[in-house]
Amino acid sequence: MSAVLSLREKGPRHFLDLKDFTGAELRALLDSALFHKRTRRNPPKRPLAGKTLAMIFEKPSTRTRVSFEVAVKELGGDAVVLSSRDMQIGRGETIQDTASVLSRFVHGVLLRTDSAARLHELARHAAVPVINGLTELSHPCQIMADILTFEEHKGPVAGQRLAWVGDGNNVAASFIEAAARFQFSLRLACPPGYRPRAEVLDWACAEKADVEIGDDPGWAVEGAACVVTDTWLSMADSEDEAASRAAAFAPYQVTAGLMAKAAPGAIFQHCLPAHRGEEVAAEVIDGPASVVFDEAENRLHAQKAILAWAME
Ligand code: CP
Ligand code: NVA
Repeated sequence: MSAVLSLREKGPRHFLDLKDFTGAELRALLDSALFHKRTRRNPPKRPLAGKTLAMIFEKPSTRTRVSFEVAVKELGGDAVVLSSRDMQIGRGETIQDTASVLSRFVHGVLLRTDSAARLHELARHAAVPVINGLTELSHPCQIMADILTFEEHKGPVAGQRLAWVGDGNNVAASFIEAAARFQFSLRLACPPGYRPRAEVLDWACAEKADVEIGDDPGWAVEGAACVVTDTWLSMADSEDEAASRAAAFAPYQVTAGLMAKAAPGAIFQHCLPAHRGEEVAAEVIDGPASVVFDEAENRLHAQKAILAWAME
């Protein structure tokens, strides 16, 4: 038994990052997600009956907020949605005390924050499972939905090539972790200065993940079954960077011409929200290769699997 697994068995089952799990554990979650998807209208049981999830948002959200709330309710549980602005943590109450108090009321806590350190502090002090609803460093729930979506359209992801074009941001970091765990090949094309953090790349290297980084989008998408991008300015980035980022990323827009260089039948993914005319051309995101709304829907199914695993 691995050290990570035995630790998790002793404490709450947090879902913080894909790298904390084995490929087999993540595969089991995807199998469970598919089961929840197939049985949505007639579920055989309500694993979260009598349980409540607190969801704390320090940053805006549409998909994460709605999909988690609906997921909890469809699993028979309840959700309390909180903005940190309305909580005492917004006025300086410590994360540690907040974790201890919430652990007396609820059976799980989701946090969206631009400080991964706060998420990890919450997890250290909570007696209940903590789920990463996005930090400035990662977005693991999103990538579980993305892999589910990929496999629905293109078959088993292991051994296939995917391409990331644009910012080496939080979503890209979780994609890199997924490449290691689900055994697919990932090429990233990022402008100089916007590559994923060295820590993520060093981890991928240590894991012998099939991950390559360059700065040419054409090289990255060559032979790829899926082309993925994301916003050029993330929630954790300063608005002051908008102009310099727009200039640096302009050659990285996913256009129909770029998609034509990918493998025949390649799909296009984007976690949303999207900016047409910036990271992606409207004709791509609104065209036949785009699976972005399947991806959004699959947040619901993937997160049911995560919630049931963590809180049942
Ligand atoms: N993709 C995603 O996490 O969307 P939201 O910011 O709307 O939650
Ligand atoms: N990279 C984006 C993802 C939004 C879901 C951000 O962090 O704003």
